[in-house]
Amino acid sequence: MGRYVVGRTADLPPGSHRVVRAGRVGVGVFNVNGKYYALNNYCPHAGGPLCLGDVTGTTEDAGAYNVLWVRQGEIVSCPWHAWEFDIATGRTITEPTKAVRTYPVWVEDGQVILETDGDPGSAARRQQPGGG
Ligand code: FES
Repeated sequence: MGRYVVGRTADLPPGSHRVVRAGRVGVGVFNVNGKYYALNNYCPHAGGPLCLGDVTGTTEDAGAYNVLWVRQGEIVSCPWHAWEFDIATGRTITEPTKAVRTYPVWVEDGQVILETDGDPGSAARRQQPGGG
């Protein structure tokens, strides 16, 4: 297990995200409306760097050839082929049986903390036992 300090909460305000160099491919940590989520930076479609994609919304069928734009800020779009993923669950929008791996992330003493099973060679500052 790897425990990483992503940064201060003030540095990751709602609507922002950053990719932490944790594990083999990195982990994207997102603040969506004040809640933090962490997704593996590896798209299950073809291995693209998912978390480097745009945070966006998606469309919803409104019937009779109409669509609505919904969930702005809750979706990340893969930069390679634009598959859309629900940041909160890691599931794809069009095929929810497929998902990207998620990790626990929380706030502790004003810091955003991420826990992964990634390698210890991360460039992110690893938290020492006892909070250091
Ligand atoms: S690699 Fe992500 S959509 Fe294709």
